[in-house]
Amino acid sequence: MPAQIIDGKAIAKTVRLQLKTKVEQRRNQGKRVPGLAVILVGADPASQVYVGSKRRACEEIGFLSRSYDLESDTKEQDLLTLIDDLNEDPEVDGILVQLPLPAHIEESKVIERIRPDKDVDGFHPYNIGRLAQRIPVLRPCTPMGIMTLIESTGIKTHGLDAVIVGASNIVGRPMTLELLLAGCTTVTCHRFTEDLKGKIQQADLVVVAVGKPHFIPGDWIKPGAIVIDVGINRQPDGRLVGDVDFDAASAHAGHITPVPGGVGPMTIASLMENTLFACEQYHD
Ligand code: GUN
Repeated sequence: MPAQIIDGKAIAKTVRLQLKTKVEQRRNQGKRVPGLAVILVGADPASQVYVGSKRRACEEIGFLSRSYDLESDTKEQDLLTLIDDLNEDPEVDGILVQLPLPAHIEESKVIERIRPDKDVDGFHPYNIGRLAQRIPVLRPCTPMGIMTLIESTGIKTHGLDAVIVGASNIVGRPMTLELLLAGCTTVTCHRFTEDLKGKIQQADLVVVAVGKPHFIPGDWIKPGAIVIDVGINRQPDGRLVGDVDFDAASAHAGHITPVPGGVGPMTIASLMENTLFACEQYHD
């Protein structure tokens, strides 16, 4: 039987509609609307697309959207000063600095400058530390959205063997924490991993975030497994494809996310959820 498609686009839309209703309720109660500041440094085309989607989602839900487009040669100190200003701005509940940053800017310095209560990306060591200790507050958006997608299948995660391919700060490592906390036995694979195929063949749940088109062949997937594809790779013909060979994997998987229309829209929906959370829990 072919895999069931996990429709991230539809699930994300439902989340956004729920958020929109909550914003209307806040307005009716005379409360301030949540505000998100999105900072882009430079003109990386993929980053421009992602940032545009985040800003549009804000406007659609009724959040205040603040946009800062900085030149690629912006001084690190000028970016830090902007963050200091936004940290003190009472209209701003969340600050997002789109990554990657130009090489002359130290990412960890920038992330740590954002006040943890406005770190809607969930990347600050405080927020990662809270997640690691099973007392999460603001959680990294892509893994958080993936947990929502997995929940939508109705499959219980306790006891599943999960393989995470990729060990980045943004996806792989926080994803491992989320799945560990959800009762999975987790294996995190990276460039030095041996026998990746053997590990994936054993997995009930596979999350792939490596940024290489069709990196995982479909016939590696265990029959009935859940397959979550985080990759968004543009092919020479302009098509977007994931890190998993979707057509081939669909013949083996039980559930699978498409690219586009899977993880991407959920990441943005989770960012919006975090912005409302920061507003209500920290700034009301
Ligand atoms: N670049 C790729 N994914 C992300 C993300 O989730 N947040 C930020 N800030 N930058 C990214």
